[in-house]
Amino acid sequence: MQASTQLAVHIRAVTKTFGTGEAAVRALKGVDFDARQGELLMIVGPSGCGKTTLLSVIAGTLDFEAGEVEVFGSSLHGMKPREVTEFRKRHVGFIFQQFNLIPTLTLIENVCVPLLINGTGRRVAEQKSAALLDRLGLQGRGHELPRNLSGGQQQRVAIARALVHEPRLVICDEPTSALDKDTGALIMELLRDIARHPDRTVIVVTHDNRIFKHADRLTEMEDGRVQRVHDQAGNSGENGGSSLFPPSPKLIT
Ligand SMILES: Nc1ncnc2c1ncn2[C@@H]1O[C@H](COP(=O)(O)OP(=O)(O)OP(=O)(O)O)[C@@H](O)[C@H]1O
Ligand SMILES: [Mg+2]
Repeated sequence: MQASTQLAVHIRAVTKTFGTGEAAVRALKGVDFDARQGELLMIVGPSGCGKTTLLSVIAGTLDFEAGEVEVFGSSLHGMKPREVTEFRKRHVGFIFQQFNLIPTLTLIENVCVPLLINGTGRRVAEQKSAALLDRLGLQGRGHELPRNLSGGQQQRVAIARALVHEPRLVICDEPTSALDKDTGALIMELLRDIARHPDRTVIVVTHDNRIFKHADRLTEMEDGRVQRVHDQAGNSGENGGSSLFPPSPKLIT
């Protein structure tokens, strides 16, 4: 059943436990979460509260035990594993917290991967990848290996790889953590451009209060659940008024 085609992501009562018995960790404890089409949504919350786990569930890279996950109106539960993989390849760009670059491939080859697996020819893929690396300030570096780069430069390559196939849903886990202020602002501009498309959505997990101002809405997670949702107008889903725009230092963990 479809909850709403206007929502990019619709999640209800999702639970996820890692491990069993004494060692079990309940990472998601019945989380409810929505992301709209055409918005840039940020997720904040203390370390270990389940942010990366939630992103992985949305991206279809992690199974969950109970609850409902719909992405662009399709239930992930209702899809076969192959359909989930196909959906992810086409429509999702994921910027991982650990950049996950392939060490034996050059920067251009790393960025090309999503285009090649979606059937784009190598020449076009390489041109597009090089152009995006240029835009992200890595002109002339495309034929180097990732190990030659600083953390911030590697992060920019990971960002290029997530965006190059123009996915409808961009999911970013701490995309500015290794970047200086100016480069962080450049990345946020790029993400904002994507969210201006009415049928595209950007979800960003962050601890970086300098970038809160770029969000349309901000979701606060705590202990495996969403606690509050704030919008730019200062409205809050829970306590009706407190605003994280401009950022509240209390929120930073
Ligand atoms: N693969 C795993 N195996 C076992 N436990 C895990 C695994 N992944 C996450 N966890 C646990 O689940 C909980 C939530 O982890 P998660 O990575 O989602 O937190 P987070 O909010 O992203 O934290 P951070 O801000 O530090 O990145 C934590 O207690 C973590 O230790
Ligand atoms: Mg995390």
